[in-house]
Amino acid sequence: MTVVTALRTDGYSPILVTGGAGFIGANFVLDWCASQDVPVVTLDKLTYAGNLHNLAGLQGDKRHSFVHGDIGDVELVRPLLSKVRPRAIVNFAAESHVDRSILGPEDFITTNIVGTFRLLETVREYWTILAPREKETFRFLHVSTDEVYGSLTSDANPFDEGSPYSPNSPYSASKAASDHLVRAWHHTYGLPVVITNCSNNYGPYQFPEKLIPLMIHHALSGKPLPVYGDGLQVRDWLYVSDHCSAIRAVLRDGQVGHTYAIGGDSEKSNLDVVHAICDALDEERPSGKGSYRRQVTFVPDRPGHDRRYAINAAKIRQTLGWHPRESFESGLRKTVRWYLDNSAWTDNVVAGSYRDWLGQNYSAR
Ligand code: NAD
Ligand code: TYD
Repeated sequence: MTVVTALRTDGYSPILVTGGAGFIGANFVLDWCASQDVPVVTLDKLTYAGNLHNLAGLQGDKRHSFVHGDIGDVELVRPLLSKVRPRAIVNFAAESHVDRSILGPEDFITTNIVGTFRLLETVREYWTILAPREKETFRFLHVSTDEVYGSLTSDANPFDEGSPYSPNSPYSASKAASDHLVRAWHHTYGLPVVITNCSNNYGPYQFPEKLIPLMIHHALSGKPLPVYGDGLQVRDWLYVSDHCSAIRAVLRDGQVGHTYAIGGDSEKSNLDVVHAICDALDEERPSGKGSYRRQVTFVPDRPGHDRRYAINAAKIRQTLGWHPRESFESGLRKTVRWYLDNSAWTDNVVAGSYRDWLGQNYSAR
């Protein structure tokens, strides 16, 4: 097992962040360390999506410690919990990409379902023997997605905490299963859990297999911008630091056993998103050959493609006073500038196996 010994706690009990070297997890850990005194231990398996460079800003910060490992590895997580004695666990660890889940669902079952189950059991064992006060204040926060609710028609009300589960992809089905396990561990064993279901995130450090960073990377590389189907599928978009502030609010004040739907009130069609990226790049880094919109290419659709996601975030807004700080326009502009300013980060992650992925997902379309 790696480190933990170097962690400086100053008397605070740390939080444990699983999947903290991925896109949202890393943003969460970086934001946390910039704004809180409570130390953080990150546990991450470092799959293709996990990247220690994402946490490079914390090098030398004794309030942060990194452990390389799998949430499903009981022999690693059990002693880790005994040693770190976290006050809370924020579980980001997951396989997270729908297209990968279609081409190879097994990892999704292994991590998102079996891994979450094993983590819950190990955490339950730890939580059961905590002193009464620590036991009461402990939290297991499970980070989930709006995709568990399935697909909306264009005139349907947005999803909220009462929407029935109706997952359609191997990814969303595995996340739905994990949500059910977390809920059951509260209902049956009393584990103090909270669940968040958030819409599509975007921002710094997102792996360029997801729509927004993929389009930025392809545009700048002069490659086609592959829009699935008619491009009129709708997603709600939330800038990643707004998701992180929502998670902090739920961790601090969320009610045990409750679910919180999180969204940016920012529904956009995929084609509108791609056009907005092209327009921002046209201003920030003109290609010299006309608009990047010329690179848009329609390709065959994703199988089982959900048509629309949308979120009604009234509960978290009204009960916890959370609201997003970024509009889609301001968040997208920040994102485009981040990728322009951090081309070395993208160059690093698109080397090697990323090329194999592009071949698998796009050459057959
Ligand atoms: P990501 O794929 O960028 O990162 C996932 C991280 O988990 C990686 O660092 C990876 O190495 C790690 N990991 C994977 N399997 C692991 C295992 N078995 N043990 C330990 N670590 C493991 O994903 P993301 O976009 O940052 O998403 C994080 C969480 O938020 C996921 O649970 C996802 O379902 C959820 N979510 C994502 C979005 C989104 O738009 N990206 C929206 C809502 C919810
Ligand atoms: P993605 O970023 O994979 O997130 P999710 O599937 O979890 O919503 O995709 C967002 C939307 O963009 C989704 O409707 C699929 C579409 N899409 C494309 O049209 N082309 C692409 O190359 C990718 C990766 C996604």
